[in-house]
Amino acid sequence: MSDRFDTGVAHPARRYNYWLGGKDNFAADRESGDLLAKSYPAARIAARANRGFLKRAVRYLAAEAGIRQFLDIGTGLPTADNTHEVAQRVAPDSRIVYVDNDPMVMVHARALLTSTPAGLTRYLEEDLRNPEKILAQADILDLSRPVGLNLVAVVHFLADQEQAREIVHTLLGALPSGSHLVMSCATTDFLTPELKANWDEALRTGRSDVYPRTRAEVEEFLTGLEVVDPGLVAVSEWRPDPSDTEHPTPVEASIFGVVAGKP
Ligand SMILES: C[S@@+](CC[C@H](N)C(=O)[O-])C[C@H]1O[C@@H](n2cnc3c(N)ncnc32)[C@H](O)[C@@H]1O
Repeated sequence: MSDRFDTGVAHPARRYNYWLGGKDNFAADRESGDLLAKSYPAARIAARANRGFLKRAVRYLAAEAGIRQFLDIGTGLPTADNTHEVAQRVAPDSRIVYVDNDPMVMVHARALLTSTPAGLTRYLEEDLRNPEKILAQADILDLSRPVGLNLVAVVHFLADQEQAREIVHTLLGALPSGSHLVMSCATTDFLTPELKANWDEALRTGRSDVYPRTRAEVEEFLTGLEVVDPGLVAVSEWRPDPSDTEHPTPVEASIFGVVAGKP
């Protein structure tokens, strides 16, 4: 294995995979996952709630907003109901560009490239911090037509809010009217002071790399957009499916979810 695969260091994609019950993770990821779950006990429930939000939001964009192209940044390791599978179930001609900066996701990217014949998928190993590079390489997307921009559980890995705002602004600036942002972002807004203090402590001592955002900070990403009902809510409260078996509270989910359109 090349040294790009440092299996001794925890990576967000593999830790998330561990929380979701997947097999593509190493001891360091499991240790980090268990440590984080000490300061935030509902981590596994939150991971599942976040994944459910991604699925419902993509289905909404494909079925109700007429979106046929997606730019999915911070894709994660392939799991059930990847963006192209959800979108192409509604509209087989959907095109999806996946982007992640973890080389391990690249190794598993074949599972993201199982497009329908009518549609198309691509995988780019790139960093969210390079939005122009991402846009330049997303050449299977027609940027004169609406795009669904998925930034699901990824902006909270950027510590700097101003940098995050700039990146979201650059990406949305390149997309035409009718495009939609699907965003989820960890928050401590719903937590008790004690749980919030644990989370802050984990960040301060380098045990966590998840930088939560307040409601007001998430709203900064939505400037100039039209927020779709029910607005900015805990991911578990964004248009839940009646058939869902789990109903996490906002405290358990602790991730904001929102879908917003570009007028
Ligand atoms: C928690 S997972 C979310 C996966 C998927 N979006 C979902 O919500 O189910 C976060 C993903 O973002 C990726 N990631 C973190 N920082 C990134 C960055 N700066 N650029 C690109 N991807 C990044 C990680 O490698 C990981 O795969």
